[in-house]
Amino acid sequence: MNLEEILRRRHSVRAFDDRPVRLEDILALGEAARLAPSACNSQTWRFVAVTDRGLIARICDEATRPFIRNEFLRQAPLVIVGCSQLDVVANRLGTAITGIEYFQIDLGIAMEHMVLRATELGLGTCWIGWFRENKVKRILGIPRRIRVSAMLAVGYPRGEETRAHSRKPLSEILFADRWGEPLGPIDSGVFG
Ligand SMILES: Cc1cc2nc3c(=O)[nH]c(=O)nc-3n(C[C@H](O)[C@H](O)[C@H](O)COP(=O)(O)O)c2cc1C
Repeated sequence: MNLEEILRRRHSVRAFDDRPVRLEDILALGEAARLAPSACNSQTWRFVAVTDRGLIARICDEATRPFIRNEFLRQAPLVIVGCSQLDVVANRLGTAITGIEYFQIDLGIAMEHMVLRATELGLGTCWIGWFRENKVKRILGIPRRIRVSAMLAVGYPRGEETRAHSRKPLSEILFADRWGEPLGPIDSGVFG
């Protein structure tokens, strides 16, 4: 699969079969994250790969939030918890000057590296951003100073592949030189 095929194939998967994710594949996801760029090469990302079913059930029971309960997480054979160990230069000084939360950008890039590698390995993933950070930290013994900003459910997709991509047209998101200026004759983009 080349990169464009991976990008087109990736979609959020919320139903998984019983197969566990192999250790070598978990390591491959970690390696994909490790190669990611980060502000000042600060590499603030840390990951907890949770495969213990009891811990995953506790995350579901204790760390989800109302409205979007993310119940599907319970069946995921692997949950990757995305953490950040903040850095003095990039995350304290840098953010104080620019107001940009570099650690969040860095974690997003690293975790999307994992998502794309997982897609290549035939695994399905879904980002989880709606949860209680402090509860997840307590369940997994993550120190208070560490931030937890996102999780990924990972596993082999169960059932029919459903692809419900809907995307804004390219003309709405990509401008030429100045805000709002169209970039030539561009149209709806690849996902329609
Ligand atoms: C930062 C982030 C947080 C998300 N949080 C959740 C979540 O808590 N629960 C969920 O079911 N999907 C979550 N998603 C998945 C999005 O709903 C999904 O990516 C979007 O609808 C586009 O669909 P696609 O991934 O299939 O292209 C999240 C995605 C991102 C990037």
